[in-house]
Amino acid sequence: MLHQSGIAITGSGSAVPAACLDNEGMSRLVETSDEWIASRTGIRQRRLASPEAGIRTIAAQAGRNALEMAGLTPMDVDLIILASSSADDLFGSASQVQAELGASKSVAFDLTAACSGFVFGMVTAAQFIRTGTYQTVLLIGADILSRWTDWTDRRTCVLFGDGAGAIVMQASPTDDRFLGFEIRSDGSQNSCLTLAFQPQSKELVDDITVGQGNFQPIFMNGQEVYRFAVKKVPEVIEKALFRANLTVEQVDWLVLHQANQRILDAVAQRLGIPGEKVVSNMARYGNTSAASIPIALDEVVRSGQVKVGDTIVTAGFGAGLTWGSAIFQWGK
Ligand code: ACO
Repeated sequence: MLHQSGIAITGSGSAVPAACLDNEGMSRLVETSDEWIASRTGIRQRRLASPEAGIRTIAAQAGRNALEMAGLTPMDVDLIILASSSADDLFGSASQVQAELGASKSVAFDLTAACSGFVFGMVTAAQFIRTGTYQTVLLIGADILSRWTDWTDRRTCVLFGDGAGAIVMQASPTDDRFLGFEIRSDGSQNSCLTLAFQPQSKELVDDITVGQGNFQPIFMNGQEVYRFAVKKVPEVIEKALFRANLTVEQVDWLVLHQANQRILDAVAQRLGIPGEKVVSNMARYGNTSAASIPIALDEVVRSGQVKVGDTIVTAGFGAGLTWGSAIFQWGK
């Protein structure tokens, strides 16, 4: 019979760049105001990575902090999953993070699902642990979207920030604290939110032409993405709650992707989850893509508010389009 292992979430960590751009600073860059940004999004400032900083360094720092909380060393890690859409290298940055950490016994790979990357990564990690393949997984969500932001487009540049967050997921012989999930994609709406490669034709020899070019800055149809999030996120959370055999009343914390305060409020209201259970830190970081859920989780854990056994509902949503929810109880 296949041995099905339980899963425990035993540590969290985060790392953000030092440089901080507030809305007043943003208004010197594009025609906007603190009033517009704060009232439409809830964002007041964002952290921005310097040109020398890389996914490699911030992801490794977040990972190190999470391992420390779990009481583990990098050599204890079997698998590193790096959820990112802004890797330092298109071939992937996970191996670089592995080297930076000195986690030489682990295997490492990248996973790209934009702002849903962390939730998709949790679900992926859970499969490896459930089957007994790996005991200890370090899941890191890290993005430096400032590299791909059009700093002249006020509709998008005010939204994003850089950062990294991580959790440790471990096999647990006694308890199973990974309670349920649901993940979804709809590529027919892909054009709503893109960071797309734009090829130019380059003729090599005779009739053989290849595409060479660059990635274009982030494009977003904000209203479409807003409508999608407010409709689909409550649905996917309800599905995950159903799979976890939980009611909304049993939820202790709602840790959503930190895209927009109005989206958080609307989702919580639709689900009937009171505001004091909704974790929000986007005022200080903006939308850090795959990093936003683990940064928010790490802050609320380190503040001492989350108790061992608390039920946490996460949900990510974004480009793809992709969306998903994972539900777990905190701690060993
Ligand atoms: N400052 C001042 N005015 C602005 C700004 C700005 N930064 N941005 C837009 N405006 C103007 C527009 O030009 C428009 O003016 P007009 O009416 O004269 O044309 C007006 O404000 C209203 O613009 P809307 O786009 O309708 O503003 P809206 O209320 O929809 O808010 C926002 C825009 C905040 C982007 C919202 O649509 C949103 O949050 N969408 C969801 C984004 C999201 O969650 N993305 C998550 C995934 S990210 C990922 O996966 C990588």
